[in-house]
Amino acid sequence: MMDRKDNNLTVETIFQPVQLGPIVLRNPIIKAATSEGRSPEGKVTQALIDFHRGFIEGGIGMTTLAYCAISKEGFAAPGEILMVKENMGGLKKFTEAMHEAGGKASAQLGHAGPVATKKITGVRPIAPSRFFNLTSLQTCRAITLKEIEQIKVQFADAAEVAVEAGFDAIELHFGHLYLVSSFFSPWLNKRTDQYGGSITNRTRFAKEILLAVKERIQDRLAIIVKLSMDDGIKGSIWLDESTETARILDETGAVDAFELTMGSSVSNQMYLFRGETDIDGMAATQKGIMKLGVKWFGRKILGEYPYKDLYMLESARQFQTVVKKAKLILLGGINNFEHIAIAKQEGFSLVAMGRALLREPDIIQKMRTHPYKTGLCIHCNKCMFSVYSTTNCVFTKDYATTSQVALG
Ligand SMILES: Cc1cc2nc3c(=O)[nH]c(=O)nc-3n(C[C@H](O)[C@H](O)[C@H](O)COP(=O)(O)O)c2cc1C
Repeated sequence: MMDRKDNNLTVETIFQPVQLGPIVLRNPIIKAATSEGRSPEGKVTQALIDFHRGFIEGGIGMTTLAYCAISKEGFAAPGEILMVKENMGGLKKFTEAMHEAGGKASAQLGHAGPVATKKITGVRPIAPSRFFNLTSLQTCRAITLKEIEQIKVQFADAAEVAVEAGFDAIELHFGHLYLVSSFFSPWLNKRTDQYGGSITNRTRFAKEILLAVKERIQDRLAIIVKLSMDDGIKGSIWLDESTETARILDETGAVDAFELTMGSSVSNQMYLFRGETDIDGMAATQKGIMKLGVKWFGRKILGEYPYKDLYMLESARQFQTVVKKAKLILLGGINNFEHIAIAKQEGFSLVAMGRALLREPDIIQKMRTHPYKTGLCIHCNKCMFSVYSTTNCVFTKDYATTSQVALG
């Protein structure tokens, strides 16, 4: 249930422990997923552990290991984790290190679907229906019913790996037009079977994955669903339908919290990030004619949106009356103590922070002593394209330059 609105918030009351399904976080701050790129073989490395330990030592409640693909075909960028039993040794070392540092660990599980590229996965990407992705210049093929069944099992298998590895939570990536959220979108989902048509049908795949995961793991860890409220693309998902998806998923009782997000990794990417559009950064990820293409058309493809603090708040409020069982996590432009206080005051149980923590891993510790300190992240978004090497804020020294050799 939503926490009741509270008008008497101080550093002490805000950083109180929070119950999240079967676990308790020492405070309501979650490090949002920022595809780390420190796993060249798809496995945990010391560099990855050190990177996350920095956030826990810096005072957050729980970090999110991201992005963890449920299969090799589900990778979105290089150096991501493959969430399979073979990688258990390193995953266990990861959770042990987070617990030792005093925090909790969540793993973001997903399949990139139309966001994937053949260059990274070695196979043609899949989507609910055949689709040409203008960002990657690739045609996705329509996923078959047999593959839908396989992917449900892969999600449940990956969740079980998370349990065995000692994670406290998993975050199902149902956002950003990755595979599952591409089913919600009438723009990408033209299916005429039980997975297409009405919003109930377009939510079916997500609901079946959620239930398969819950059945497998029961209450052994918390389940977070990262859900897109609004894709920022004409003809795709918007609040009228995403609130219905949230209602359907919430009704199952299997979701402990929704982390509400927006935007897409398929097109108009800046709708998610807001702030400076880093064309040079995007061009640097490409070669030859593609590099030129990015310089000419990048701004049009990525879009341009000014940064605003708490930019997802207005949309996220819409979910407060719809979601009755799960807690809500506010995300997007949370940079200062005041933003966390506003989120709590508005009735959000938890907050997730991405770029502010990349810039200052110890921002929460600093807030405890200086609540009026302004966060240093300027939303230049130069971190955005660092996901193609090792994700980092360009203004922060890489505090995790340790080994990128697989730990097992
Ligand atoms: C470098 C970078 C990598 C990201 N990678 C992921 C990811 O792997 N999965 C995901 O769901 N979101 C990802 N995001 C989005 C963030 O989780 C978050 O939704 C977004 O940055 C807005 O929050 P913020 O304003 O606190 O940064 C990424 C963001 C950044 C900046």
